[in-house]
Amino acid sequence: MQVQWYPGHMTKAKRMMQDDIKLIDLVIELLDARIPYSSQNPDIDELAKGKSRLVLLNKSDLADPARNEQWLKHYRDMGRVALLLDSKNRKGFAPISKSIEEACREKIERDRKRGIVNRPVRAMVVGIPNVGKSTFINSLTKKASTKTGNRPGVTKGKQWIKLDKNVELLDTPGILWPKFENEAIGINIAFIGSINDEILDETDLAINLIDRLKKDYPGVIYNRYEASEEDPAAAIIGSVAKKRGCLKKGGEIDHSKAANAILDDFRSGKLGKITLELP
Ligand code: G4P
Repeated sequence: MQVQWYPGHMTKAKRMMQDDIKLIDLVIELLDARIPYSSQNPDIDELAKGKSRLVLLNKSDLADPARNEQWLKHYRDMGRVALLLDSKNRKGFAPISKSIEEACREKIERDRKRGIVNRPVRAMVVGIPNVGKSTFINSLTKKASTKTGNRPGVTKGKQWIKLDKNVELLDTPGILWPKFENEAIGINIAFIGSINDEILDETDLAINLIDRLKKDYPGVIYNRYEASEEDPAAAIIGSVAKKRGCLKKGGEIDHSKAANAILDDFRSGKLGKITLELP
């Protein structure tokens, strides 16, 4: 299954970010804790060269707790400042100020030597679509910021959000990159709902998800749907459709409706706390 999505507004957004990066001290990168590797945009690595970095593993409430710890260790071993976060329920926010300071220590020290003190850190919040950037910023500032969003046609002016006297944030639109390195990355990004669903075949995607879960989290499919994991994925979708009464007009089984239900169950955590990648 080939997945690729790089609409024009992302090219534009990337160009804007390339301009803005000159103003930035720190790049705060939100990753999805269920697929930290696949949700890491290589273009951001390029963009953030020479900048301080903070990695936030968001949606950690939906991810496998043991694997969360493994990923956290992985980033810390790489020398990155990293935290687990649940932006939706405002969990994991207490150490953020300290982590920003830690990530920017060298820069603050450099400023101090040049006689610059108390200049706020300017941070850019980046991440793929749907990773939780708005939710994160809203939780951090404890208010609903005006979302000018990813919507094509909406002109997005620079939005500096003053966090406190030490930190100013720049919100950015979610971007992907022109070509995923391999098939699995695109599929993982589609699993978590960061690819426009309209360009995807939901049944194919659900088949892929079921196959992955049977392998990585045996028992999950059986527990939720009472479907035999020995059956092929397509048959499991058929059985979910029958059990849930997913029918088209005329009584024919609606596989895509059942496939969507399975994808929604995964995305909302109803299948359990699942991480699809290991460091
Ligand atoms: P974006 O700006 O990066 O595109 O993402 P956004 O904040 O709009 O979040 C996308 C979806 O992810 C939202 O769900 C949001 O509630 C959810 N979300 C964000 N952070 C977390 C988290 O840490 N944990 C969990 N479980 N969910 C998170 P939605 O269904 O689109 O909206 P809503 O119904 O929750 O309002």
